[in-house]
Amino acid sequence: MSSRPTSSLPLRKITHFSLREKKQRGEPITALTAYDYPTARLIDEAAIDLVLVGDSVAMAVLGYDSTLPLTMDEILHHAKAVRRAVKSALLVVDMPYGSYHTSDDDAVRNALRLVQEGGAEAVKLEGGAHRAPLVERLTRAEIQVVGHIGLIPQSVNRMGGYKVQGRAAHEITQLMNDAAALEAAGAIALVLEGIPREVATRITAAASIPTIGIGAGPDCDGQILVFHDLVRLGFGPAAKFVRPFADAGSEIRDALDLYREAVESRTFPSDAESYHLAAAVRTELASV
Ligand code: KIV
Repeated sequence: MSSRPTSSLPLRKITHFSLREKKQRGEPITALTAYDYPTARLIDEAAIDLVLVGDSVAMAVLGYDSTLPLTMDEILHHAKAVRRAVKSALLVVDMPYGSYHTSDDDAVRNALRLVQEGGAEAVKLEGGAHRAPLVERLTRAEIQVVGHIGLIPQSVNRMGGYKVQGRAAHEITQLMNDAAALEAAGAIALVLEGIPREVATRITAAASIPTIGIGAGPDCDGQILVFHDLVRLGFGPAAKFVRPFADAGSEIRDALDLYREAVESRTFPSDAESYHLAAAVRTELASV
């Protein structure tokens, strides 16, 4: 049965406790990215558990060719719109590249902005065990943190491209250590991106906090996709792990063709789509 809330049902507010309970019950956690009010509202009303204002906004919406140029002000602009829409889901906002790389003090200041100005209930940052002290510091400052390990797009230059991580034994050990260190530091969940299914399964089994996979196979505690991939609203080839559940790109292209044809053939707007004067004013106008 669908868990879609209706107006007659009380709001089910998702917290990190709810996510952990779902893991314990073996119930899959649903998560999606959102960057604007209408999309976030649709996602929230569809009873998705977690909404991420991902730094993927840089590529999915802003036309950058990586996530690296995204600034704090840009992500805050999107987070505020999403915050206004999301009532039920846990709202997580990404810390952009550069916002936590200079010093822990800068990182706390920037994370506080995401919470205070953007309405984030948790922030997400990329990196493994070396980020554990920062995660601990943020957690002590009452800022909830979601970790992100595996293929971490902010490290695209170090990785030499968007490549699946954790294929070699030493990398697998490192990923297991990363997950354990982030959990011990207080992370409330872990995004596992672009790693072999078998590795995600092991990390998920070892972790007490939920794992949310993207390109990490079906055995994670939850799944996340970039909204624009889910509805096929992008321009490049889709990654292997993406399943488009709709084809919004072609729907929009069709609508645009119909609109252009209707305007060019003067069939839009019709008389019924026009405003009219009252009969008395029309008569008066006709007599002058
Ligand atoms: O920015 C993003 O969309 C993400 C997801 C891929 C998890 O980090």
